[in-house]
Amino acid sequence: MKKLKISIIGAGNVAFHLARIFSEKGMRPFQILARNTEHHEEMIAFASKLITKTEELEPCDIFFLTVNDDAVSALASQIKLKNTLIVHTSGSLAGNAAASAENKCGVFYPLQTFSKQRYPDFNEIPVFIQAEDQESMLLLKQLASQITSHVHHSDDRMRKLLHLAAVFVSNFSHALYLLSEDFLKKESVPFEYLHPLIKETALKAISSDLNKSQTGPARRNDKKTLESHLSLLEQHPEKQEIYRLITRYILNKYHPDSYE
Ligand SMILES: NC(=O)c1ccc[n+]([C@@H]2O[C@H](COP(=O)([O-])OP(=O)(O)OC[C@H]3O[C@@H](n4cnc5c(N)ncnc54)[C@H](OP(=O)(O)O)[C@@H]3O)[C@@H](O)[C@H]2O)c1
Repeated sequence: MKKLKISIIGAGNVAFHLARIFSEKGMRPFQILARNTEHHEEMIAFASKLITKTEELEPCDIFFLTVNDDAVSALASQIKLKNTLIVHTSGSLAGNAAASAENKCGVFYPLQTFSKQRYPDFNEIPVFIQAEDQESMLLLKQLASQITSHVHHSDDRMRKLLHLAAVFVSNFSHALYLLSEDFLKKESVPFEYLHPLIKETALKAISSDLNKSQTGPARRNDKKTLESHLSLLEQHPEKQEIYRLITRYILNKYHPDSYE
C-alpha cells in the first residue's frame, strides 16, 4: 500500500483516537486542523503540522471530518482542494454528507464510544465504510484494515440502525449509570458497590441469549417490589417515569397477559 497522506479535521474524541491509532500504525497524519489552539498540545504528538483554519489545509489523499454532525457539510464545502477524498465518521449522516463538486466523499464510521480518558483496543472495533466509487472504497478498505480486523461495507440504512442501537446500548446505559449514581450519592451510598454488576451485565449481554438472561422484578412480575421501587422514587418524577417506561417494556415482553 502506498504511503497515504492523511488529514484530520477536528480535535475531539474521534479525532484524538484516529490520530493516535494511525500514528501507532506508522501512518502519522500529515496535518490536523484544530480550530481551538488549546487542543494543539494534546494532538501535536500525532501530526506533522497543526493548523486552525481550512484555508491553511494542504493537499492530502484523504481528509477525515471528525467534527459535530451539524458541521460536516459546511466544512466539506470549505475544503478548496481538488481530487481528494473527504470522509465523515458519523453513524447517522448520509453517505454523501461530505459531498462537494471538486472532491469524492465517503464514510469511515468506527462503532465504539470514544472519550480521551480511555484507550479502547482499536483492533476489536468494527469500522463501517462507504464511498461513491470503487477506487475510494478500496482506499478506505486498505486504510481501515491497517487499524482493525473488522472492516465492513455498509449503506446509510444499516449504519443508521446500528447507530440507533448504539445509542440504546451505550449512551442510554451510561445515562442510567449517571441516574443511579445521582440518587445513591444523595443518600451517601457508594456507586462503586455496583461495579461488579455493571461488568457482569455487559459480559452477559455478549455471551448469552439476551432473551433468556433478563432478570429483575419486572422479569419475575414481582408487583410489590415494583411498587416499592416506585414509591422510593416518589420525590424524583423524571426517574420514576423512566423506571415505569422500562418496566412496562419488560412486562409487556415477558408477562403480556398481566400487562395493562
Ligand atoms: N464520540 C464517539 O463515541 C463517536 C463514535 C463514533 C462516531 N462519532 C462521530 O464522530 C464525529 C465527531 O464526534 P466526537 O465525539 O469526536 O465530537 P467532539 O468530541 O465533540 O469533537 C468535535 C470536534 O469538532 C470540532 N468542530 C466542530 N465544528 C467545527 C467547525 N465548524 N470547524 C472546525 N472544527 C469544528 C470541535 O472543535 P472545538 O473543540 O473547538 O469545539 C471538536 O474538536 C461525529 O460525527 C460523531 O457522530 C463519535
